[in-house]
Amino acid sequence: MTSILNPPTNGEDMSTASAALAAADLEKTFYSTDPPTQVLSHIDLEVATGEFLAVMGASGSGKSTLLYCLSGMDKPTGGSVRLGGRELTGLSDGEMSRVRLTEMGFIFQQAYFLSNLSVRDNILLPALKATPKDKAGAGARIDAMLERFGIAHVADHGITQVSGGQLQRASICRALATEPSVLFADEPTGALNSAMTTEVMDALSGVHTEGTTIMMVTHDPGCAARADRVVYLRDGGVVDALAMGTWTPGEATRREDELLSWLRGHGF
Ligand SMILES: Nc1ncnc2c1ncn2[C@@H]1O[C@H](COP(=O)(O)OP(=O)(O)OP(=O)(O)O)[C@@H](O)[C@H]1O
Ligand SMILES: [Mg+2]
Repeated sequence: MTSILNPPTNGEDMSTASAALAAADLEKTFYSTDPPTQVLSHIDLEVATGEFLAVMGASGSGKSTLLYCLSGMDKPTGGSVRLGGRELTGLSDGEMSRVRLTEMGFIFQQAYFLSNLSVRDNILLPALKATPKDKAGAGARIDAMLERFGIAHVADHGITQVSGGQLQRASICRALATEPSVLFADEPTGALNSAMTTEVMDALSGVHTEGTTIMMVTHDPGCAARADRVVYLRDGGVVDALAMGTWTPGEATRREDELLSWLRGHGF
């Protein structure tokens, strides 16, 4: 099946089974309100293995709800979500927690770190929970990541003793410490200034280059321009997609201009 809402295939066969993440006819209605609030409807969306997908749309269009439903943080009220071909809807809460812990990584606008632990221990904690028998392996992996993201020198600092950009790079380390198959990011630069945004997006671009599948919600066209593909949400439906191919620093301005003009066409 060919659709602009699916990843570009370069002529190769790309079935749902080979996608890292796939939603089919996804629906989310909140019944806690009177009348019920339908937030997502009829969403068909695939994220290819290794793809960097950005999700954009006006405030309230359902971006976070989509991310929560795809990552099992919230339960869809209809349709299907598959992770690496495995159906997630219908898993028990315990099974879903395990999938989130071992196969998914999360980055949010705020880091949500524990204030009584050092940066390094905050990263180590979920990794040890995921693989309790591999303390040495997890520690070595995390030290290598701290080095790579330029925060090894603040690893033993408390979380109030580092900058916002350093803290968000630590969030990326925490998200990657369990070697997830998909990294979910909801407004990862939403609380950062432009220099820190570049730091964090450089880190995410590096993670993508190494093959991690990323689904990122953002309001920032400069951040979305890093993605291979951008989908646009309106009133809880995916209405368009822009395939941009692989990001390179030299193409940053051209890509952002292309994306901005596409977004303007959607009234963004
Ligand atoms: N628990 C809930 N109960 C009822 N309605 C909800 C609930 N959570 C979200 N909504 C509604 O769903 C819609 C989409 O919310 P969502 O947070 O997904 O939007 P968003 O696109 O991420 O917005 P923003 O860009 O502001 O973060 C909004 O109208 C919101 O009010
Ligand atoms: Mg949101």
